[in-house]
Amino acid sequence: MTEDEVLYKVEAGVATITINRPMKYNALNSAVVKKIRELMKNAEEDDSVRAVILTGAGDKAFAAGADISEFKGKDSASVRPLAENGQDLCKYIESMSKPVIAAVNGFALGGGSEIAMSCDIRYASANAKFGQPEINLGIIPGFGGTVRLPRLVGLGLAKELVYTGDQIDAQEAYRIGLVNKVFDDCDSLYEAAKELAKKLAQKPGIALDAAKSSLNKAWTLPLGENLGFEVDVFCKTFDTEDMEEGVNAFLEKRKPEFKHK
Ligand code: COA
Repeated sequence: MTEDEVLYKVEAGVATITINRPMKYNALNSAVVKKIRELMKNAEEDDSVRAVILTGAGDKAFAAGADISEFKGKDSASVRPLAENGQDLCKYIESMSKPVIAAVNGFALGGGSEIAMSCDIRYASANAKFGQPEINLGIIPGFGGTVRLPRLVGLGLAKELVYTGDQIDAQEAYRIGLVNKVFDDCDSLYEAAKELAKKLAQKPGIALDAAKSSLNKAWTLPLGENLGFEVDVFCKTFDTEDMEEGVNAFLEKRKPEFKHK
């Protein structure tokens, strides 16, 4: 991989990670997947970063899936690391204490859609297209698509998308709950993603982390255990300076200044 196949910048508390292989529709080769994982870790460990945006370079693609040229000659054993690395990246994004916004600016196919699904919030441009086209290659999703897609859109729709490999446009993705909002073009998408990230960067970090883990656990745990986890993390937020600041600011009718402590 050349160094600039994934770009990283931090501005006003927001880290932006950009997949930068526009000539290949930002297809995710193994090196790119590993680099995104490494940069997510940088963002997680940098205290000055409070929110992350993941996007693709250009106006054609967020990521058109795993790099199909890496599939040739692979068998069940040799392809395993590829799926495991992709899944590891998606799990890491979900485990991060900071919110990650996917700004989907074109095709989000296969692994592209799967990585977007592991982000906390998905914004899309009107030209975005989503799909799990793996079936057309004689394979199935391997970055968690058969697990996260039904949780986001329901089993029936997920089966239709995975069985047919068909693409859906941004409006349909919005209608079925796969994306939160759709914007007219890529510029307004980036602006909105930045606005949202900056807004989240102002929120108390410990409470955001608690909210993220509790909401994520709602996906996996039975109801009773979920509710117990929420009580635990709810109580923990009462031991933070941010809670004291938030409550005082409300009572003193002023804007809170959170320190993420
Ligand atoms: N892996 C490797 N290369 C890819 C790719 C992928 N997943 N998706 C696109 N590319 C490359 C193409 O090979 C082409 O490269 P080239 O110009 O060197 O030949 C370039 O990106 C542009 O793609 P092209 O197919 O010419 O553009 P298009 O506008 O006609 O179609 C797509 C765009 C995204 C619909 C089409 O490229 C596609 O179906 N890609 C594969 C999607 C997929 O199956 N993803 C899941 C993989 S598991």
